[in-house]
Amino acid sequence: MKSKASSPAKVILFGEHFVVYGVKAILCAINKRITVTAETIKENKIYIKSNIGNLELEPNKDISEINSPLKPFYYLANKLLENQKTGIKIDVESEIPLGVGLGSSSACCVAGAAAISRLFNKTSKEEILELAIEAEKTIFENTSGADCTVCTYGGIMEYDKKNGFTKIESEPNFHLVIANSNIEHSTKMVVEGVKQFKENDENRFSILCDKESKLIEDVLDLLKKNNTVELGNKIRENQEYLETIGISNEKLRKMIQIGQNKSFGAKITGAGGGGCIIALTDESNLEQTLNQFKEDNYDCFSVKIDFKGLDTF
Ligand code: PMV
Repeated sequence: MKSKASSPAKVILFGEHFVVYGVKAILCAINKRITVTAETIKENKIYIKSNIGNLELEPNKDISEINSPLKPFYYLANKLLENQKTGIKIDVESEIPLGVGLGSSSACCVAGAAAISRLFNKTSKEEILELAIEAEKTIFENTSGADCTVCTYGGIMEYDKKNGFTKIESEPNFHLVIANSNIEHSTKMVVEGVKQFKENDENRFSILCDKESKLIEDVLDLLKKNNTVELGNKIRENQEYLETIGISNEKLRKMIQIGQNKSFGAKITGAGGGGCIIALTDESNLEQTLNQFKEDNYDCFSVKIDFKGLDTF
């Protein structure tokens, strides 16, 4: 028995960091995917093969003893093998760069949960999402589940801590240029730095949260109107707030400047401190924006919003 599933990566369009303190964030799925193929095998073992390495283990190991980024796959295979005499072979193919805030681990968990669970049952998207979040918790204990949700359902989504996720029904047709600083970041450390910033000046931080909330409301309206130029201005404004809270650095600032040159606006996406930036474009300035980054030897590529989400074969 063989089963295959693929899940898109994601970017945070607006609201990272402020979302930790209750402000809304806007996320979208992007058309770069992770594909997982799972196969039952006679031998009672779990084999995982990927472009970041392989893992080969007996079932029923204590998950806390496993020190590998492939741990979520082991967790899923082990859980779904309960009461089965077979084993599982898993093959992971990824178009998503790792550890730079594009949701590669969430996409792995979603595609992994779908491919592995469907070896045994016809699981629904809701059940797959639940399994994926459980698997993601083996690496990020405090995950909000926002990334897994957007990777499962695709499209654009607003998220806040109190109300959870709401799908945004607009289907804007902009292109994003993503440029990678190739600096791996620790989300945890950058989030800690922002906490320090807040504790040093609660009043200033609270004003920034209010500004960000107002910006997000404007963005929700602009998304409905498909107004890419104005959305670009909001991206620039959001970047100023991210700069203020101290998550940028010299390399990222240089990249933002390159992005701002030709696109409608550029900002950090995700935790910052490294990772990626996004630049908002349409057909009129996509190639020029990409070329600017290429001329300066940055890893870059363009994406559109993925409206499909999880796909099973
Ligand atoms: O870089 P990422 O995708 O891990 O994004 C982190 C987003 C933060 O707002 C900085 C943290 C969080 O938990 O929301």
